[in-house]
Amino acid sequence: MNAIFHRTSVRNFLDKTIESEKVEQILRAAMQAPTAGNQRPCEYYVINNKDILEQLATVSPYAGPVAKAPMAIVVCYKNTGLRFQEYAQIDSAIVSENILLEIDALGLGAVFLGIAPLEDRMEAVRKILNLPSNLDAFNIIPFGYPTKESKQQDRFESSRVHYVN
Ligand SMILES: Cc1cc2nc3c(=O)[nH]c(=O)nc-3n(C[C@H](O)[C@H](O)[C@H](O)COP(=O)(O)O)c2cc1C
Repeated sequence: MNAIFHRTSVRNFLDKTIESEKVEQILRAAMQAPTAGNQRPCEYYVINNKDILEQLATVSPYAGPVAKAPMAIVVCYKNTGLRFQEYAQIDSAIVSENILLEIDALGLGAVFLGIAPLEDRMEAVRKILNLPSNLDAFNIIPFGYPTKESKQQDRFESSRVHYVN
């Protein structure tokens, strides 16, 4: 799993179109994620419309990178009717990590832009995408070819590990 040790957040992108096979592969990775009771609560909005990307960049003070990307995925989850409803955001987070790792493995870069659980951001995304009432926005993942290669930090801290024998 080199992608785990290679991935970094990418916030600047080349003006280069992403091949549709790569986009499908990213969505396949997303749907392969473990979810509570295998409930698979997510729906995926794949956006390459420049105007909508620019609107999404305004939904939080930290969402700027989406205006610089050729494409973004908004991970949404069903907010009603799930067997394990309380786990829907956790499921979405795991789905999102799969997306980030597959993007890295394909030579692309991305960043996780937090939306849920902040209601004002969720509402702003709902309005822009005209989401149906049974879906909530979880995050925005802008992605594309990175402008530069960045090196990952080593974050291992043995002091955080507690062996119980
Ligand atoms: C829940 C969550 C919310 C995040 N929200 C933002 C955001 O709004 N804007 C942003 O630029 N990065 C955001 N990030 C990316 C983090 O800043 C980044 O993952 C962290 O600094 C570690 O850097 P790395 O991804 O390069 O390892 C978010 C990451 C997570 C997991």
